[in-house]
Amino acid sequence: MDGGGAQRWSAVADEWAASWGRVAAPVWGPMLTAAGVGPGTRVLDVGCGTGELLAHLGALGARGWGVDPAPAMRARAALVPGADVRDGDADRLPFGGSSMDVVVAVNALQFAEDTFGALDEVTRVLVPGGAVAVANWAEGARNDLDVVERAVARAQDDDPLPDGELRAPGGLAAVLAEAGLRPVASGIAPTPWHAADDDRLVRGLLLGEDPATVERLAPVVVAAARPFRTAAGGYVLRNAFRWVVARTPGGSPDPA
Ligand SMILES: C[S@@+](CC[C@H](N)C(=O)[O-])C[C@H]1O[C@@H](n2cnc3c(N)ncnc32)[C@H](O)[C@@H]1O
Repeated sequence: MDGGGAQRWSAVADEWAASWGRVAAPVWGPMLTAAGVGPGTRVLDVGCGTGELLAHLGALGARGWGVDPAPAMRARAALVPGADVRDGDADRLPFGGSSMDVVVAVNALQFAEDTFGALDEVTRVLVPGGAVAVANWAEGARNDLDVVERAVARAQDDDPLPDGELRAPGGLAAVLAEAGLRPVASGIAPTPWHAADDDRLVRGLLLGEDPATVERLAPVVVAAARPFRTAAGGYVLRNAFRWVVARTPGGSPDPA
């Protein structure tokens, strides 16, 4: 899925949860620790998808809110005990000013219509000195997924999608700084993706494609993923996410 249309995301909610819902889980711990999330912290998850991070926040004792424009994504996220999930998007957050301590966006900020407008919204809902934590796929060269996506693009006579500034090394921090936020921590985490067999591989990698396209491209996906096949007949694609935590102006200074 490269587009951000709410109806397209809604149509793939179940498959998203099955294939991808926890792929970024390795960044949650370091990123939330750097953002100071703990019991009672008010955290908004922008583009919360099917709610796996909201469930993790609940386990930490934090208070979680989610926002997502896709109804079926929201319906799943709303099942997370204690989570308050609302219709909205990164450019239009349905929350009052200074109502959150931390805002997170995992694999979602790239779908904002206007990245800087969205970061203004994030700044508005955060308390002074609040933290925004953003995580995105690292650049393609670090991701086995890129190998398969390039093969699929070639098979369709498309150009592979460029990485974009949110994926390049240093790019995320630069965008946050340009938005008037102060980057305070960053990292990169391995986020391997597992598929149990050819069927799961194809369903995950051709997420959102129509049945005829899936049938045509399935052999391309299986061939391109050959180097990542395990002895057991499944697949492990080694990938990575980068994350950055930045703070809004104001608030108390960081401890020395
Ligand atoms: C790649 S999924 C990531 C979901 C979740 N954050 C995760 O890590 O599993 C992207 C999510 O962003 C949502 N989305 C699409 N456009 C958006 C926008 N403009 N603002 C916020 N979220 C958006 C989609 O509905 C989808 O749930």
